[in-house]
Amino acid sequence: METNKLSNTSSSMTNKSLSMTNRQKLALAVESRKRTDLTRYEGSFQDFAKEQIRILPKDASQGFIPLEFNKAQQIVDDAIEKQLKETGKVRAIILKARQMGLSTYACGRVYWKSYLTPYNKSVVMAHDSATSDALFAMSRNIIQNMKPEFKPVLKKSNSKEIGFEHNDSGYRLYTAGSPEAGRGTTPTIAHLSEVAFWTHDAKILAGLFQGISQADGTEVILESTANGVGNEFHRLWKGAVAGENEYIPIFVPWFLMPEYRRFVLEPEVFADTVTEEEEGLQKVHGLDLEQLYWRRLKIAEGGMDKFRQEYPSTANEAFIVSGSNVFDTGKLDDMVSLPCMKRQHFSLESCMFEDHREGFLEIYKYPKYDSNFIIGADCALGVGQDYSAAVVMNAEREVCAVYRNNKLDPTQYGDLLFYLGRYYNNSLLAVESNSLGIATLNRLKQMDYVNLYHQTKVANVSNEEGTRLGWRTTQATKPMIIGHLKNAIENDDISLASPIIIQECMNYVADASGKTNAISGCHDDTVIATAIALEVLRTHGDRLTTTRVSFRNQAYTPDNTQWL
Ligand SMILES: Nc1ncnc2c1ncn2[C@@H]1O[C@H](COP(=O)(O)OP(=O)(O)O)[C@@H](O)[C@H]1O
Ligand SMILES: [Mg+2]
Repeated sequence: METNKLSNTSSSMTNKSLSMTNRQKLALAVESRKRTDLTRYEGSFQDFAKEQIRILPKDASQGFIPLEFNKAQQIVDDAIEKQLKETGKVRAIILKARQMGLSTYACGRVYWKSYLTPYNKSVVMAHDSATSDALFAMSRNIIQNMKPEFKPVLKKSNSKEIGFEHNDSGYRLYTAGSPEAGRGTTPTIAHLSEVAFWTHDAKILAGLFQGISQADGTEVILESTANGVGNEFHRLWKGAVAGENEYIPIFVPWFLMPEYRRFVLEPEVFADTVTEEEEGLQKVHGLDLEQLYWRRLKIAEGGMDKFRQEYPSTANEAFIVSGSNVFDTGKLDDMVSLPCMKRQHFSLESCMFEDHREGFLEIYKYPKYDSNFIIGADCALGVGQDYSAAVVMNAEREVCAVYRNNKLDPTQYGDLLFYLGRYYNNSLLAVESNSLGIATLNRLKQMDYVNLYHQTKVANVSNEEGTRLGWRTTQATKPMIIGHLKNAIENDDISLASPIIIQECMNYVADASGKTNAISGCHDDTVIATAIALEVLRTHGDRLTTTRVSFRNQAYTPDNTQWL
């Protein structure tokens, strides 16, 4: 690193040192000391932090204190410095519990880099304006509290930008509010805070990543608490763990923070109340009673799901849950997916299912000749976005097969369902009739599928057959079927079999208004298909009528379909 014009020692001064006044001698000594310090700071953010950065701790009444790394900051610093040494760059993704001081770390680091490296352009981005303002305030405090001889002269200083006079470096602050935030910038350092909470995460990160140079010395630090799965933060984390991207994953568990403890008045009494789960935590992570007590109080405050996400002990735990999950994530996590017996691909030419390693039909249980099945089917446009999904369920509430494809148009989907239904003993086929499903249902009618579901009215206690073809998901029926699925999962009353369904259920959340959907970037098509199948089983399970076609013969049954 080049310190540029931070140090002012001039050669003329040294030449005339013989005739120097005491004041000049002192100035020279200070300058020479400053030079030594700057050289040291270039090699150590830790030294710079301790000696030049002052922060306001959680208990602000203490006033500004030097930034001496806590355990979490030390772990992050060690990992980052190691990567820097090995690759010349920093690309780090940090998964953390709340309030571990990692925004402080990253903010200080960006300041350190900008202060000491010429022509450095840093971008700081946080999920909301309050947080980005706080980060910026932190930078201003650092400047204000530096030792006088180190204080930089600012070339630019406004509410969104700081620029240094001495080296033409500076940084800009953004809030990740619009998809265009940070687009067009070419930062050398980027500190991206609480990325899991960014509204337009994919677009903003794509824009930023495009602008960041691959040159040595560049740094990208993403840090966040988890916020469910399926978002960009989760995707990048998974990629980093799998070694598929250039980021190093750094996880810092909650129990590293010494203050995450609560005084236990009577340890012996408390020890008697330690649960099996807590004992496991003691064994695996070496937690003491005060930590367990703090944990209990936090769980009592916000619930287990929230605790796991905001104060994870392991990286996986952070992603298992999301605060507003509709389904019990613990149950889903315990649910063992069955081995997939076969994957098949549906051939539109031969109208047959053929074995295929990457087929969209997953079979978990073959149809037994004397079993009855229900198929719940959700329809999509087939243009690579939402999925057309079909779930085959038997009367024991076991998912037997799942079909999921986002490249099949609604009419072709009708063909597929026709043959899937026949394959499963002419299942009672409940196709969602909302918009696109009409085309699928038309096709099935045209093909004379023998066992199409007609919807009964929701309030119809007698469950007598209605006349409306297909299942209609409405504001009234959706909460009902999702509610029934939720109960079934909670009561171990359903086997979801497929990892896709289990995953989609995990990512299924309620928003502030109580509406339920997949979290952004994820899908819920198999959740809806499962919920429809379960609901139809509930209302029609006792009188499933089938027109059975032997499984053995069905593939060769002459096709009497009336084609278009
Ligand atoms: N090393 C440290 N020593 C004492 N207090 C710290 C330290 N690092 C950060 N803090 C304080 O802890 C609080 C949380 O820090 P912050 O960086 O916002 O955490 P995070 O981003 O991990 O949630 C802030 O008040 C900050 O000033
Ligand atoms: Mg933070």
